[in-house]
Amino acid sequence: MPWQVTPAGVTCKGISLQTSNGVKIPATKPYFSEEDIAFITEKFREILQGKSFLSNGQYVAQFEKEFAAFIGTKFAVACNSGTSALELICRALDISGKEVILPSNTFMATANAILNAGGIPVFADCADNMCLDENDVIKKITQNTIAIMQVHIGGIVSESTLKLKKICDDRKLYFIEDAAQAHGSSLKNIKAGAFGVAAGFSFFSTKVMTTGEGGMVTTNDEMLVEKMKAMREFGKVKQDIYINYHKYMGYNWRMPEVAALLGLRQLASLGNFIKRRNEIAKIYDQELKEVSSIKIIKPEADSIHNYFKYIIILKDHDRRTVHKELEARGIQPSGYVYELPLHKQPVFPLANDLKLPTTEYVSAHHFCLPIFYGMADEDVKFVAQSLREILKT
Ligand SMILES: Cc1ncc(COP(=O)(O)O)c(C=O)c1O
Repeated sequence: MPWQVTPAGVTCKGISLQTSNGVKIPATKPYFSEEDIAFITEKFREILQGKSFLSNGQYVAQFEKEFAAFIGTKFAVACNSGTSALELICRALDISGKEVILPSNTFMATANAILNAGGIPVFADCADNMCLDENDVIKKITQNTIAIMQVHIGGIVSESTLKLKKICDDRKLYFIEDAAQAHGSSLKNIKAGAFGVAAGFSFFSTKVMTTGEGGMVTTNDEMLVEKMKAMREFGKVKQDIYINYHKYMGYNWRMPEVAALLGLRQLASLGNFIKRRNEIAKIYDQELKEVSSIKIIKPEADSIHNYFKYIIILKDHDRRTVHKELEARGIQPSGYVYELPLHKQPVFPLANDLKLPTTEYVSAHHFCLPIFYGMADEDVKFVAQSLREILKT
């Protein structure tokens, strides 16, 4: 059994979790095995003893190499968040003054990265699976469009990814992936992160693999790598013996070594994490298949879903009531993706009147059930049973 009850409090199959704040089943929970913890603490001790550098050193380089190999790209560039990964891509592609089309149904960070790099976010509608709708994207392309950014919401790699990539290739636009949620997901044997010119991943604490905080860009473009590696260190490049030479505008987006140590171990476990998440999803599928008032958002054919989120649409019920009633039973619903789309956010007043009907519907009606590697089968069944009971009333 890969997941065990340990002094660190990790759940194992068949044993329910009871935390101190009354939460029986949390929305998510990271997993590090005892071997992971031993490896990380041993290497970190060496770093603390001064045997190697604390930031952006040998383990970051190793993590980049292994992550690129896993995704299937030539290169990866580590940084300190998913947001900085996306901003590095946008800056390296020099999108300043140009429009980038993105789904409105995404996290604020996707738009932040574009804005911080001087670009103009243009919000498009999504399809029923919550990822970009290529038909709406086409309508949004103008003379000033430079890129389309697909977001693999909840870990789903939508069929629209391939269509959008073709649209970009035909029109000489950049195809960028926000793969913040899609570690290990794939479509037709191509992994999220390997479709476009570059992709940004997040290793925030809730993600399928985590370094606490952290990010990674994957790309096949060596010129972009040179720029992004400079930009993550204030835009510096080495001139002769000197390093205080700033060729680009940059910032401090470096990854600390301890984060890379976590990342190396999480990457080694990612296959197991995804396998278990798929087992959990299967249980939910089975337990909920006869509930006619919900629609389960299923992965595409010929795809691997990492099940960062298990998403359902509540067709007839008030989401707030369902949320509160699950919480009353000690079940923490997983975070929404996303409850208020970007075009309705107060920070974008000029976009507030935009009509993106599918986005508005799925944002308002979707619901994410708890899912994480160490979740016991009986806890999955308890969540499903609770949901069935709540939806009956
Ligand atoms: C879709 C999406 N984009 C970008 C980000 C930003 O990642 P981070 O929180 O690591 O900056 C996240 C993560 O929260 C995300 O879910």
